[in-house]
Amino acid sequence: MPHFLARRQTRFANSEREYVFQCIERFCRINRPIRGYYMEFGCHSGTTMRMAWRHTKQFDWHYLAFDSFEGLPEIGAIDRQDIWAKGKLKTAEEEFLAIVTRAGMPRDRLTTVKGFYAETLTDALRARLASRLAAVVYVDCDLYESAVPVLRFARHFLQLGTIVVFDDWDCFKADPDKGERRAWREFLEANPSLRFEEFCRVSMAKAFVCVAL
Ligand SMILES: C[S@@+](CC[C@H](N)C(=O)[O-])C[C@H]1O[C@@H](n2cnc3c(N)ncnc32)[C@H](O)[C@@H]1O
Repeated sequence: MPHFLARRQTRFANSEREYVFQCIERFCRINRPIRGYYMEFGCHSGTTMRMAWRHTKQFDWHYLAFDSFEGLPEIGAIDRQDIWAKGKLKTAEEEFLAIVTRAGMPRDRLTTVKGFYAETLTDALRARLASRLAAVVYVDCDLYESAVPVLRFARHFLQLGTIVVFDDWDCFKADPDKGERRAWREFLEANPSLRFEEFCRVSMAKAFVCVAL
């Protein structure tokens, strides 16, 4: 794709993400207090983390950045799609930290959890983070096999009003048996007491709000 077209696509995608964060800001301002964490699974170049900070810094949340900081893991059969490859979308942890702190995020409001989710999202980590629940769970890790452990972990941090955003809802041509859509359906089947309402929708992303635990 020519460079100027790629730039136009990125601008469009980011304007849509801005809209999602504006919706989150408005929801949390009206329904205050919603306390806790902004949890982001898939942080790469810090674009969404910086947006999250800009729109939600007034809420006194703590920001958790979960990423391998080594790019995508091995791509399993269910996640094969031309745009994904092992190691793609890599931003090193120090670089990510430099990007977001340059944008004004105080270091003491941010914790990074480095490593692949299959290894890092443990009961021990869950216990360490147990002092707060999640205000927002931002899922931007592209793959079914990444979203499964993320949702299993995030489940313990849900509260009424937690917003769960799927940045890649329409990857895999919106096939409900793939990607984040499949992970979400299986998660809801495995947790029948949970109920969510639709929160907002943009071209590739979809968000839900938790209304029953
Ligand atoms: C599309 S990028 C995230 C973009 C980011 N939100 C931004 O605004 O720049 C996907 C990220 O998910 C991470 N990721 C995907 N699967 C992962 C896994 N299983 N464990 C850890 N990180 C993973 C990759 O390292 C990559 O940084």
